[in-house]
Amino acid sequence: MPAEPFILSPSLLSSDFSRLADELHALEQAGLRWAHWDVMDGHFVPNITLGPPFIAACRRQSGLFFDVHLMIDHPDRYVDEFVLAGADLVCVHAEACVHLERTLSRIRELGAECALALNPHTPLSVLDYVLPQLDMVLIMSVNPGFGGQSFIPFSLDKIADLKQMITDRGCRCSIQVDGGVNLDNAQKLVRAGADILVSGSAFFKHPPYAQRLREFLEAAGSRP
Ligand code: DX5
Ligand code: ZN
Repeated sequence: MPAEPFILSPSLLSSDFSRLADELHALEQAGLRWAHWDVMDGHFVPNITLGPPFIAACRRQSGLFFDVHLMIDHPDRYVDEFVLAGADLVCVHAEACVHLERTLSRIRELGAECALALNPHTPLSVLDYVLPQLDMVLIMSVNPGFGGQSFIPFSLDKIADLKQMITDRGCRCSIQVDGGVNLDNAQKLVRAGADILVSGSAFFKHPPYAQRLREFLEAAGSRP
């Protein structure tokens, strides 16, 4: 669980891909600690983005914590490659894993942090048996595939329910929210229990990044 009110993990999907190393450097200079990588395969989601070689090339250029969100089918076939490329955290989708426990165990065995993403319609009950294995749960607050979509309002209740579930079970897992996060909903999300906010368009479209980080911190305020 992060000590500060929340961590902002900028989604590189909205960054300038032609200057990725510069973008990562600018994030670090601005005081960000995490970078969120959206990996899409054109099957699990309709969009295609990037794979392990991109991450490996950038790993050599950046000390940021690489938070890798795999929106791909058969993630079990690729987790080794992503960890080898330099992922600090690997997040797979519950909907894409037939042998979920095995995939999560493999991520941990490889030495990366282990996270599970849930699409908006996926109930929290999929976490019942695997919650103790997880460092983080990612609540998708849009249907995955594209940046710039609107936040789905029921995600707020889902975060609060998950927070309660984590407390009741005495687990140490953190909560990340991804999709349509902006200055207007940041405070509600943190108050509901989110520890890590992912932001793509609402972050990268508003440089300079140090100021945007401050604006997010001010907008979210502290936990009650
Ligand atoms: C959506 C991705 C998100 C996306 C968020 O499928 O997982 O990380 O980049 O972008 P915004 O913040 O613009 O909704
Ligand atoms: Zn994402």
